[in-house]
Amino acid sequence: MKRFKSRPNSWQDHWTRKARKEKYPARSVYKLEEIQRKYKVIRQGAAVLDLGCAPGSWLLLASRLTGSRGKIVGIDLQAVTIDLPPNATALKGDIFAPRGQVAAALEKSFDTILSDMAPATTGNKVVDAARSLELCRQALAIACRRLRPGGNFVCKVLQGSDFKEFTNEVGKLFKRRHNFKPRSSRKASREIFVIGLDRLRSGN
Ligand SMILES: C[S@@+](CC[C@H](N)C(=O)[O-])C[C@H]1O[C@@H](n2cnc3c(N)ncnc32)[C@H](O)[C@@H]1O
Repeated sequence: MKRFKSRPNSWQDHWTRKARKEKYPARSVYKLEEIQRKYKVIRQGAAVLDLGCAPGSWLLLASRLTGSRGKIVGIDLQAVTIDLPPNATALKGDIFAPRGQVAAALEKSFDTILSDMAPATTGNKVVDAARSLELCRQALAIACRRLRPGGNFVCKVLQGSDFKEFTNEVGKLFKRRHNFKPRSSRKASREIFVIGLDRLRSGN
């Protein structure tokens, strides 16, 4: 047991094993689970947009949380290959260049917009943080246009020099804004979730 605790990957193994056992394709599901427990970002019957949805764990959890009256649409550069419940759809596309069904999905209104999008990492912290922020700004721009008043926003950010500016932008659109680091997110990782609750009517 002691040996297990001291293994560098024991933390990762724990969440990966749990995800496999509970039939989720990725351990990232536990980050959304913690966010939901604390902030109740997804309501029964809600319309949810999941940006960066592959391989599909957040789609599965969001589908459970909304119940059958809810509707979840995911978008990702990668195809989602798992079987999805009837109230969840995954579309393949780039949120910077939406076309066809992706463009049509982004014309709808949502109660919750989630973004777990991550750039292909280079290992250069400054570059990776800047690319992550571009994705976050695009997610926030979509939220500005498509999130209903009272709606909630969850966005994963790799913290870099413009992080504070981004959190301020989120703060202007919502009644409450929180930065949250889930227990299931690696301590060493610079990722954090910026959460906007209760979209203001007048925010832009
Ligand atoms: C950490 S994964 C998401 C995991 C997902 N939340 C789950 O639980 O299964 C990040 C995803 O962001 C996607 N992504 C990155 N840039 C994107 C873009 N421009 N448009 C759409 N998806 C993007 C990647 O393809 C990748 O699948």
